[in-house]
Amino acid sequence: MKKQIEVSAPGKLMLFGEHAVVYGRPCIVTAVDQRVRVGIEQTESNFLELNAPDVGIERYRRNIKGLGVSENLSKGARFVEIAVKNFFQQLNVSSGIRIGTSSDFSSEFGFGSSSAVTVAVIKGLSEVFKKNLSKREIFDLSYQTVLEVQKVGSGFDIAAAVWGGTIYFVKGGKVIKPVKNIPSVVGYTGVKADTTSLVLMVSELYKKQKVLIGGIFEMIGKTVEQARRSLLVGDSRKLGELMNINQGLLDSLGVNTPELSNLIFAARGAGAYGAKLSGAGGGDCMIAFVSEDSRKNVEKAIKEAGGKVLRVKTGAEGIKIEK
Ligand code: MEV
Repeated sequence: MKKQIEVSAPGKLMLFGEHAVVYGRPCIVTAVDQRVRVGIEQTESNFLELNAPDVGIERYRRNIKGLGVSENLSKGARFVEIAVKNFFQQLNVSSGIRIGTSSDFSSEFGFGSSSAVTVAVIKGLSEVFKKNLSKREIFDLSYQTVLEVQKVGSGFDIAAAVWGGTIYFVKGGKVIKPVKNIPSVVGYTGVKADTTSLVLMVSELYKKQKVLIGGIFEMIGKTVEQARRSLLVGDSRKLGELMNINQGLLDSLGVNTPELSNLIFAARGAGAYGAKLSGAGGGDCMIAFVSEDSRKNVEKAIKEAGGKVLRVKTGAEGIKIEK
């Protein structure tokens, strides 16, 4: 039995379709070249041992018989612990295990570090215990884990972490299709957003305004379909226009912020084809679709508007075994 393994999985950025994807509309997501790394080692003990210094977890220890039972699981450990519990239950494994995690990026950016960690842990366990899980099985077990921890979510971030590249995605992995990538500039607002509360906020608004908000979800879905076609034919101007339309629709869901707007307008003014928030909104990042000629100007404008330019490459490789 192989006893030690290192696995990495990429973070993600949403290109089109956030929020509406939670209600069954499609989205387009891309994996970024900022990765989460997980080392897994089988041990002779009865414990899950976890070191995740990036999220303040050091020498965390849990009896494997009590995995996931406490209500007060610390946030940084929850995804790993529930992932191990689910893997052990579903694949009939019981063993001591030592896990260490680290990340190329700050969990503040909204790149989906929790989902990437979950995917990397499931893949690592599959290797250590020679279970040979397929990508689809890794997706399903990871999605189950993430739903158990945070209750809401479409699973788009998990798909990006597993398959990588740029993906057209429908909730729960009903459709997962690779599409072309787009060159982009990413700006961070400096404001950390909480995805779960934003998803709940939109669901409250939907309850109050079924027809209007339902209509906006429908329009976002149509924007994503058009974006998919524009990607196929390489129509950059139209894609930029669709990004701007998507941003307007997100604004009407109430998830835009002044900080995001500043960076978005700065990017558009500096020659981006289009720009929008990326993810749940409420802060985190915006993304601008740029030509190579406009890239420098757009980066400069985002900085001048108070944003931090995150140098990430999109369309990055999905989950992989490092050693
Ligand atoms: C958050 O990054 C994107 C949302 O659509 C939530 C989800 O799809 O899980 C708001």
